[in-house]
Amino acid sequence: MIKTLINWSDAYSIGHEEVDKQHQVLVELINKLYDAFLSAKAYDVVSEILDEMIDYTQYHFGFEHEIFEKYSYPDYEEHKTVHESFVMKTIEFKQKIAAGEKTVTYDIMIFLRDWLIEHIQGEDTKYVAYFKEQEIDEFL
Ligand SMILES: [Fe+2]
Ligand SMILES: [Fe+2]
Repeated sequence: MIKTLINWSDAYSIGHEEVDKQHQVLVELINKLYDAFLSAKAYDVVSEILDEMIDYTQYHFGFEHEIFEKYSYPDYEEHKTVHESFVMKTIEFKQKIAAGEKTVTYDIMIFLRDWLIEHIQGEDTKYVAYFKEQEIDEFL
């Protein structure tokens, strides 16, 4: 049985079908990493899941950036900077693990969980509210 770190809740839905779907995939990947961490899976298993998580995160951020560009989101640069610093942090974790820490730590897991939830309910919710206000079709 997979122990979950994040239980997806409707409170995490921001009201854009594709974005919500992508956020759920991110939650699943973090849960998968957590499961590997709990069961002390081998280094290469953990690092493969971490890679998958980092790749998907970049894909998701790119998807959001396209929306921001398409609809001229005024906080695009600010939001992009927040994304970039998260990606740098995940790459740092990966390097630490590769350098011999050999496993993901509990602190890393908590950081990923808190960051994602806070980001969805903070910055991401903000752009949805803005596009709703602008009456952009795909957000209505
Ligand atoms: Fe997002
Ligand atoms: Fe975002």
